[in-house]
Amino acid sequence: TITPVLLAGGSGTRLWPVSRKSFPKQFAPLVGEESLFQASARRLSGARYGAPLVMTNADFRFIVAEQLDQIGIAPAAIMIEPAGRNTAPAILAAALAAAEKDPEAVLLVAPSDHVVPDAEAFGRAVELGLPAAEAGRIVTFGITPTRPETGYGYMEAEGNGAGPLVLKRFVEKPDAENAARMIAQGNFLWNAGIFLFAARTMIEAFRTHAPEYLEPVQAALTEAHTDLGFLRLAPEPWDRLPDLSVDYAVLEKADNLSVVRFSGHWSDLGGWDAVWRETQDTEPAERGAVTDNRSTAIDCDNVLLRSQDEGIEVVGIGLKDVMVVATDDAVLVAGMDRAQEVRMAVSALKAKG
Ligand code: GDD
Ligand code: MG
Repeated sequence: TITPVLLAGGSGTRLWPVSRKSFPKQFAPLVGEESLFQASARRLSGARYGAPLVMTNADFRFIVAEQLDQIGIAPAAIMIEPAGRNTAPAILAAALAAAEKDPEAVLLVAPSDHVVPDAEAFGRAVELGLPAAEAGRIVTFGITPTRPETGYGYMEAEGNGAGPLVLKRFVEKPDAENAARMIAQGNFLWNAGIFLFAARTMIEAFRTHAPEYLEPVQAALTEAHTDLGFLRLAPEPWDRLPDLSVDYAVLEKADNLSVVRFSGHWSDLGGWDAVWRETQDTEPAERGAVTDNRSTAIDCDNVLLRSQDEGIEVVGIGLKDVMVVATDDAVLVAGMDRAQEVRMAVSALKAKG
């Protein structure tokens, strides 16, 4: 069986004010009834998978435990990172811990803030990649690009078809010009940020391309202690780790990457514009207006009107390309094409204190 590793340590500032430091987007029901985290855990449950390993931090540990309990999934472990060091150390810690229990362990690392509605189609893609993972490849999942997005990794595949195809090149977050060039070239796919590999393969990849991670991560595991059922990694070695994503630390340099093309729907809910795109079909839409049951759009074009608070009604009249998101203590009003800048608003608010 495959061990799912759910990454749930990010803070999702671009979805402020619903996403907060203490309650980030992956735990909020942004699309549908369940939280993104719950939907991700459920997607990676069932016959193919063992109990999940959750990588998170101290602030989120009780939310993680409670949300898993609500959907009846018992985790193999909830590992607490003492500080946010991005995905490279988190993934290495998961691989070292899994390999210690079972040297043959195969892991499926997945973000907990994506929308992938067709779990069965995704499961088939995983099965397609499994033999390659067992044979020592790091298997990625590729999405056909639809715009020159600069927030994703790009992967140049050798050949066509579903795969697994050999990856020639992995380019993390190119600038707009390079993104457009790669799309024009044709054989590039977006990296979905989901990885399938044997634990020992990932450990070897770190040994080759980022050896400085091994000693601190191993020490953080060896000196870890259990607290109310959570596995707390040791802070001293963890603090010494560089803050880098696995994409930059290892994948851009690795020469044993494969890609399985995933043609089902996939979205990284990277901003309110993405939430707007994802919810358009399922909620009342009038010329692209997305409202909830506490919001009303009158004569609006392409708007997202959303209230998270029972006591706040949001009404838009004659608006175009605008998003309004209200919570009990904050209201965001922004142009639909400025969704990425919400991150800066959060920094500005932090600076104000
Ligand atoms: N446990 C833990 N600890 N999780 C973390 C940490 C951390 O320190 N930092 C980020 N994460 C989680 C996030 O919550 C998210 O679920 C996942 O790891 C990926 O991090 P993001 O910050 O969302 O990465 P990204 O979106 O900028 O880029 C990655 O995903 C893209 C697709 O969504 C890359 O893999 C890109 O190549 C890829 O295209
Ligand atoms: Mg992301």
